[in-house]
Amino acid sequence: MILVTGATSNVGREVVGQLAAAGREVRAFTRDPDRVADIGPSVKTVTGDLAQPETLRAALAGVERVFALSGGGPEQPLHDANLAQAAAEAGVRHVVKMSVIGAEYGFGDLMSTWHLAGERAIRQVGLPWTFLRPGEFMSNARLWAATVKSQGVVYWPHGHVKVAVIDPRDIAALAVAALTSPGHEGKAYRISGPEALTVGERVGTLGAALGRALRHVEIPVSAARDAAARAGRQPLVVETALTNMGSDDYRVPYAQVLPVSRDVLGREPRTFAEWAADHIGLFR
Ligand SMILES: NC(=O)c1ccc[n+]([C@@H]2O[C@H](COP(=O)([O-])OP(=O)(O)OC[C@H]3O[C@@H](n4cnc5c(N)ncnc54)[C@H](OP(=O)(O)O)[C@@H]3O)[C@@H](O)[C@H]2O)c1
Repeated sequence: MILVTGATSNVGREVVGQLAAAGREVRAFTRDPDRVADIGPSVKTVTGDLAQPETLRAALAGVERVFALSGGGPEQPLHDANLAQAAAEAGVRHVVKMSVIGAEYGFGDLMSTWHLAGERAIRQVGLPWTFLRPGEFMSNARLWAATVKSQGVVYWPHGHVKVAVIDPRDIAALAVAALTSPGHEGKAYRISGPEALTVGERVGTLGAALGRALRHVEIPVSAARDAAARAGRQPLVVETALTNMGSDDYRVPYAQVLPVSRDVLGREPRTFAEWAADHIGLFR
C-alpha cells in the first residue's frame, strides 16, 4: 500500500492516478475527501490533516511507502516532521518527498528553508528517502486563466526571466518511479522541463493553442500575490516563489535544462506546448 499525501494537488493527483493505472494499491490523503471523489473508484480516500498526527496514524496502517507533499508554506516543516515520525512508527520503508529547487543550493530564502527543514525531519527519523527538487511547475499558468478569458492578457512579474518549467505529470512520473522501482533511496533529484522559456514565450504558446493573440503585461510581485490570494492561493507562498524568480541567485538554476527525466524515465519531459494543448479548456 502506498499513501499519497497532497492527493488533491497538481502533482499528488497525478501520482495517485499513475499508481492506480499501474495497478498499485493507493490511499489518497486529504483534508477534504470531496476533492478526490473524481480520481477513480480503485483509489481509497483517507481524511486527515498533516498538522494533526493522530489522523496520520490511522492513514499509515499497513502502508509501505509514502509520497509526502504539502503546500510549501511555513507549516511545511511541521507537516513533514509529523509525517516522518508517524511513518517511522508505522514501519514505512521509503518516503518520497516533494521539495523545491532552492533546497539544492541553500540560498536561504523562505521556501527553501521550509523544505530543507522538512527534508531534515525525514532524514532524522532514519527513514529511507528520495527528495524531488523541481523548479517552477507549468501548472502555475492556471493563475492566468481568468484574465486570459476576460481580456486576452496575462499579468505576471519577471516576464524576462527564463525558466525551464516542468509539467506536473512528469514530476509525478518521477515520484512513481521512485516509489515503485529500486535504486532511488538517498537521492535528491533536481528536476526541470525540456526548455527555458520567458513568460512572454509561454504566453505566445498559449495564444497559439487558443488560436488568438495574447499579451503579457508586467506587474509587481505584490500585485500578482494579491491576485493569487483572491484565487485561493497562500499569499506568502506565491510572494516567496515570485521573489525568488527575480533574484540573481535563481536565474541560472531556474533556466537549466537537466537530464533527470531522460535518465530515470527514459524519455524527454513534456513541453509547455503539450501542457497548453492538454489544458486549453481552462483558458477558453
Ligand atoms: N508550484 C510550483 O511551481 C512549485 C515548484 C516547486 C516546488 N513546489 C512544491 O510543490 C508542492 C505543491 O505545490 P502546489 O503549488 O502544487 O500546491 P497545491 O496544489 O496548493 O497543493 C497543496 C496540497 O497540500 C495539501 N495540504 C496542505 N495543507 C495540508 C494539511 N494541513 N494537511 C493535509 N494536506 C495538506 C493540500 O491537500 P488538501 O487541501 O486536499 O488537504 C493540497 O493537496 C509544495 O510543497 C511546493 O513548495 C511547487
